[in-house]
Amino acid sequence: MIADHEIRAVTNATGVAAAVERIYGAPLEAMRGVLHVTAVWRDPGGTLITLNVNDQTPRCDHDAFALGVARARADAIVTTGRVLRAEPALSHALPGPAKLPAALADWRRSLGKRKPPLSVILTRSGDVDFDHPLFGGGHRAVLYTSEETAERLRSRAAERGVGVIADRSPSLRQAIARLEGQGIDGVAIEAGPSTARTLYQAPLAVDELMLSIFEAPDLAPEVRGGALGTEAMLDAHLPHRSPPYAVATRDGNWSFSRRLR
Ligand SMILES: NC(=O)c1ccc[n+]([C@@H]2O[C@H](COP(=O)([O-])OP(=O)(O)OC[C@H]3O[C@@H](n4cnc5c(N)ncnc54)[C@H](OP(=O)(O)O)[C@@H]3O)[C@@H](O)[C@H]2O)c1
Repeated sequence: MIADHEIRAVTNATGVAAAVERIYGAPLEAMRGVLHVTAVWRDPGGTLITLNVNDQTPRCDHDAFALGVARARADAIVTTGRVLRAEPALSHALPGPAKLPAALADWRRSLGKRKPPLSVILTRSGDVDFDHPLFGGGHRAVLYTSEETAERLRSRAAERGVGVIADRSPSLRQAIARLEGQGIDGVAIEAGPSTARTLYQAPLAVDELMLSIFEAPDLAPEVRGGALGTEAMLDAHLPHRSPPYAVATRDGNWSFSRRLR
């Protein structure tokens, strides 16, 4: 069992590459296709419950590292209007304590990526606060929505330098297709479970899953989000997985693995 603080010793791209190989059992390259990255709790019945991100969420530096690795490998990050409302401090910067953000940025450059990923926000309602930090800080952002909502949002979005993409019947799959059509071929999905789950319906629309599991026997009700599914469901869709890498934190143990089609 690895102590969580050990990831804080990572200070540069070489350290990131070594930690990635230790945790996921193989070196990782820039992402191609669709990568789902998520943190869940395994409930006593074996269902993987998505962790809501709030003050009660168990803290884990290795989980921040996992999220940072996914972001560093991606050309676009997809989230939702609901996530922005639930997480008013969310940004798509490279996360983590100590020197991890700078080390991840270094590693991203070593993967050949010069620009930060594009932030893509799915919204039907258009209930989006343009003062949210996701829209500041030099990150490019685009809203993906219906044609009607796009009409309402376009001028406010333009004032904030935010793009708008619309479809008559918007869906996560269609959003990914639109990004691919723009030459963006590494898409990290950071949407909540009700949206991300749709990727696992036939035909499968996810190529890789970076999964962080909080292994504690119990979880505060405020942190229990929607179900992702069971590990048996994941075995059926993404059968190839790295052996779980176990980490101990003050809040409880975690395990990290990566699954592929
Ligand atoms: N642990 C993790 O890995 C993780 C990752 C992400 C999020 N979260 C947590 O998950 C929670 C939110 O999850 P959730 O399942 O309730 O919601 P969600 O799936 O993140 O968001 C649902 C919202 O996405 C938008 N949306 C979905 N499909 C769309 C489509 N086809 N076209 C346009 N917009 C579409 C709509 O936004 P509008 O409401 O704006 O119309 C919809 O209300 C939060 O508490 C967050 O902290 C956890």
